[in-house]
Amino acid sequence: MPFIEWSDSYNTGIPDIDKEHQMLFALINDLYDRVETGSAEESVKATIEALVDYVSYHFAREEGLLSVCNYPDLENHMATHRKLQNQLETYRQSYEHHPEAFDMKDFMGFLIHWLQDHILQTDMAYTPCVRRRVESIVDCA
Ligand SMILES: [Fe+2]
Repeated sequence: MPFIEWSDSYNTGIPDIDKEHQMLFALINDLYDRVETGSAEESVKATIEALVDYVSYHFAREEGLLSVCNYPDLENHMATHRKLQNQLETYRQSYEHHPEAFDMKDFMGFLIHWLQDHILQTDMAYTPCVRRRVESIVDCA
């Protein structure tokens, strides 16, 4: 059973965004599996790095989309992205320098709450605006 399971409540109805969110779930589940099966530190470290990189990629794509759509709350949305990236980077460095003292349970709890907040609250706030925009583009085609 995965650590965090995708459900329809996470669907934004924007296919690219949903695909990327599913990838975030997959990376977090991958990290959980590696920790649970006692994988080597190098492998856990690489998975944390992959997650940090993918989050940056996803945020950049999301910000690009919101900018094209003239999303009125873009600045706040970007601020929440930067805050999360800083937190993730702190966790990443702490694992890199002191893996033996790293509180993985705390990190996994942080990730699951962040992902749920990110999608269910922060991202759901922009979906009507983006979907309207996407639909109007489709209508004009
Ligand atoms: Fe997102």
